[in-house]
Amino acid sequence: MNSRFKIAPSILSADFGQLAHEVRAAEQAGADWIHLDVMDGHFVPNLTIGPDVVRAVARVSRSVLDVHLMVHEPSHLIPSFVEAGAHCIGVHVEACAHLHRVIQQIQATGTRACVVLNPATAPELVRPVLPLVDQILVMTVNPGFGGQSFIREALPKIQQLRQWIDATGRDIDLSVDGGIGLDTIEDVAIHGARAFIMGSAFFKSGDYKRFVDAIRQKLAPYEPKSAPPAPRTLSA
Ligand code: DX5
Ligand code: ZN
Repeated sequence: MNSRFKIAPSILSADFGQLAHEVRAAEQAGADWIHLDVMDGHFVPNLTIGPDVVRAVARVSRSVLDVHLMVHEPSHLIPSFVEAGAHCIGVHVEACAHLHRVIQQIQATGTRACVVLNPATAPELVRPVLPLVDQILVMTVNPGFGGQSFIREALPKIQQLRQWIDATGRDIDLSVDGGIGLDTIEDVAIHGARAFIMGSAFFKSGDYKRFVDAIRQKLAPYEPKSAPPAPRTLSA
């Protein structure tokens, strides 16, 4: 679909017993990216998947595989995720002492590099890497689990990052993750997000195609060429 917005189901909320089927169903419903959450039980209080699961998803997927590493000092794991088929790898600003080096390590493999900010992390921390990063992911929950409530205090940060990104003239994807669904998608889109990671709202919707259509309908007023039907005003 020709849209400025990307829909990225997070398989964290999928049925892991039928993962191949879930990935194909998400793509048939109109997903642009598949988001894969890697948790180390240390940076976040939960454990999830490793490169073998990413490889299994890569075998059945035809989408961009967006791998979100919730891992303390992840550089030693990056080669395994590249080899497994990741197209974009996200690392947390809070987890990397040497952020430029990690971004360069990812990009040297031909993979897109994303930096991720926790809800309480100031946007200034990613400003020094705006000249090189490919994607910025703003967490709208504290990472570790699906199904948490959206943290509205992250909205001004999205807006600030949108301004800085536009000023660079670079094509940096601005994405959001956590508590995104039909009730929150307009708020994050208005503030400048362009890619939406959705776990529980997507996979618990019952009908993925209907859900994607409903999300696209919410986003339609914010597509560049559509007639603006009185878009809602900014509110944090
Ligand atoms: C949370 C993960 C998210 C998670 C989002 O730590 O990074 O990707 O799947 O789940 P929802 O959309 O349910 O908040
Ligand atoms: Zn995630």
